[in-house]
Amino acid sequence: NYGQRVMTNRMRAYLPQRIVQFLTATHPTAHKIYLCRHGESEYNTTGRLGGNSPITAKGVVFSEILARFAGEKICGMHRDETTGEWCETSSTKRARLWTSSLIRTIQTAAHIPHPKISNGDWEQMSPRVYRNIDEIFAGDCEGMTPEDIVLNNPQAAHLRSMDKIGYRYPRGESYFDLISRIEPCIQEMESYTEPVLIVSHQAILRLIFAYLTGVDREKAPGMNTFAQNVIYEITLDASCEDLITNDVDAVPSFVVAHDFNADVARLEGVTDAEARRAEIDAIPL
Ligand code: F6P
Repeated sequence: NYGQRVMTNRMRAYLPQRIVQFLTATHPTAHKIYLCRHGESEYNTTGRLGGNSPITAKGVVFSEILARFAGEKICGMHRDETTGEWCETSSTKRARLWTSSLIRTIQTAAHIPHPKISNGDWEQMSPRVYRNIDEIFAGDCEGMTPEDIVLNNPQAAHLRSMDKIGYRYPRGESYFDLISRIEPCIQEMESYTEPVLIVSHQAILRLIFAYLTGVDREKAPGMNTFAQNVIYEITLDASCEDLITNDVDAVPSFVVAHDFNADVARLEGVTDAEARRAEIDAIPL
């Protein structure tokens, strides 16, 4: 009965205790999880790994689209044309927001509105910053491109290609390290009934996406590039388990991919703020 009643006996070992904690947090109430990668960063433009670079003009356009999507689609709020204020409506839902601690995700979420609702009881999309969902740390290879790694450290490139999930960058992390780093966040995410928007990074999102869609963890690091400018809307309820395919690059039927790549490309050149807002307001959500 999904945590309504949990009986345990002689729970002395670490793993069984964690399993009990997990089963206590999980619930079958239908709810949504939204995943998106940060908008384009300066490092993305040169193909460099990691770092803490800010987002580019393209990234800013995506951050503005994301703000409208979060306000209207996730929270069900309405933006008053004259005042610019976000207001509660009869379809408003309480919603949550997580970003990593890196500049590129914080900037991507920066325009999302945070009005108080429910007579001041709840701050919408209250920004929560978690280091647990920071990008994989490439250690000595931070700031390099994959080609630099092949040139400067061919052994690292070879070993990673042989065992991507287990390979730990020199003085850095592996995908296995990420799995244990994000575990507390997964537990917390499982306990929520409100929608949560997670703005994070490629490696972390591959793991969360694989977890939510039932893909084996060994396959997650080999997933296609986690698309930028796409918001994945994942509706979870007790029926999802029947829809799992274990195909690493498939988007299962309970996931909707809202792809804003064409809008970002079109609006990158529109520098007038008013004109850009009007164009963003006209995007069908
Ligand atoms: O290239 C963008 C990026 O987020 C890097 O910062 C990170 O090292 C990489 O993707 C993770 O993807 P992969 O595990 O495929 O190298």
